[in-house]
Amino acid sequence: MSSTLKELHNEITEKLSGVVEFPRREAELLLMAYLERDQLYFITHQEVLVNGRDSRLLEWIERRSRNEPLEYLTHCVSFYSREFYIDEGALIPRPETELLIDEVLASVNPDEALTIVEVGTGSGIISILLALHMPNARFIAVDISPRALSVARRNIEAFGVSDRIELREGDLLGCVNEKIDLLVSNPPYIAQDASLEENLSYEPQNALFGGTIGDEIICRLIDEVYRRKIPLFACEMGYDQRLKVQEYLKSFAVQSLKFYLDLASFDRGFIVKANHE
Ligand SMILES: C[S@@+](CC[C@H](N)C(=O)[O-])C[C@H]1O[C@@H](n2cnc3c(N)ncnc32)[C@H](O)[C@@H]1O
Repeated sequence: MSSTLKELHNEITEKLSGVVEFPRREAELLLMAYLERDQLYFITHQEVLVNGRDSRLLEWIERRSRNEPLEYLTHCVSFYSREFYIDEGALIPRPETELLIDEVLASVNPDEALTIVEVGTGSGIISILLALHMPNARFIAVDISPRALSVARRNIEAFGVSDRIELREGDLLGCVNEKIDLLVSNPPYIAQDASLEENLSYEPQNALFGGTIGDEIICRLIDEVYRRKIPLFACEMGYDQRLKVQEYLKSFAVQSLKFYLDLASFDRGFIVKANHE
């Protein structure tokens, strides 16, 4: 049965009310993704007829009304102004992780032929973005989850950077023997017993939880930086983990340590230059 876009928008808004925070906006995003049209089309074609009983659309509405993230329905996520493939095998990239890319790019010479290792690559967005900005760097992107690695593989191929990003399945740096110039990571950093919003239950749990306290993987990565004599480490962290990172690094020789904030002015990550002399 056909309805106008406007009628369908109202109908979906009603179904999402009480489930998502901004039902009207979410209904608009869902319809734009379904119609593969932009916002201008949406605004200017309110009277166009749309088949509101299409099974794919009905399935999306049903799943979204159970608070499943839109990105897992559309298999598309925007990051750093580019579109990536995504599915339930990998964490949905967050806007704050764009800052990690900026911080790395500001800390290196982008033309250098560096060996960069990313731990916990997920959908591959960090290594891919860095590879696009660092034409001479080569990357080893590690993840413990084979499902995440297949999402990353798909994105790496789509962006034509397979010749410079090698994927490996493993635990932290266990599968990397090469000399590393830069370690980058957005590791899981949430405490095991933290109470989370319901929609996070759709995302891989090993992408979210970093251990009992939450910062365990970050600390293990710092240990690896010193064990493996890695000069530079860039890492995303939780807004409340700065003190712990500062304390932990006190037992190591540090040349410089910078914490960076996210757009809401919360601590979000750090870059440490290690002193290995
Ligand atoms: C927070 S997600 C980050 C994904 C992606 N890099 C991003 O920024 O959107 C963390 C990733 O680390 C992976 N991971 C968790 N524990 C790991 C471990 N011990 N070794 C390697 N990867 C791990 C998870 O599978 C997940 O893909």
